[in-house]
Amino acid sequence: MEFFDTHSHYNDEKFDGDRKKIIEETFKEQVTKFVCAGYNIKSSKQAIELSEEYENIYAVCGISPNDVTQNVTEDVEELEKILDNKKISAIGEIGLDYYWEKGNKELQKELFIKQIELANKLELPIQIHTRDAAIDTIDILKSNPVKKKGIFHCCPLNKELVKEALKLDFYISFAGPITFKNCKNADEIIKMVPLERILIETDSPYLSPEPNRGKRNDSRNVRYIAEKVAKVKGKTIQEIAKITYQNAEQIFNIGGE
Ligand code: NI
Repeated sequence: MEFFDTHSHYNDEKFDGDRKKIIEETFKEQVTKFVCAGYNIKSSKQAIELSEEYENIYAVCGISPNDVTQNVTEDVEELEKILDNKKISAIGEIGLDYYWEKGNKELQKELFIKQIELANKLELPIQIHTRDAAIDTIDILKSNPVKKKGIFHCCPLNKELVKEALKLDFYISFAGPITFKNCKNADEIIKMVPLERILIETDSPYLSPEPNRGKRNDSRNVRYIAEKVAKVKGKTIQEIAKITYQNAEQIFNIGGE
């Protein structure tokens, strides 16, 4: 059994003390491929460095809505420069976040759209971060179609959003929150998503699933996400590991056997 963790941040400073050790343990414990996602220029560069150092780490690069500045055009131009001639699996994490926003919704939208245009130019899928912004996120995707589609990372457990995301042929990536005891609609949402559209992720070092909630997260915990999906879908954890692995290889355009 092998797992593909489709979203993590080994570029985060929380791994500064033991990054190498954790990455190597992760590979030993059946998480044989994973994505390291950037959220601004610096972390995107670090994601590229990790992907160059380890064959089975894939870089996703982008500027998140929480890192938006007044200079959207310049920022996206700089992003494009660091991606030049590099092996990138998607543009992300990009999107909208109205939970943390402070009067910058229009700038967030502009940044999101410009990065969709970049993804289309580079023929890459996108990895979306959306929080408290479901309607605007879907509206932008409808009016700015993404050629290679993409993923709703740590997908909010919002029925309407998931329904629209599936209509757009996007993947739904489940993370720690589906295992939380106070998460009431996780089962219903998991049932809504066909197996061929499901991905699993940790969002390490954040959002540790049960039973490790509250501790620093790492990719080894992706098995708890798979376990929860397996239980709801009436499948074995091996079956979920396999299908989500194939789905990840497909969306990131990674050659499987
Ligand atoms: Ni993230």
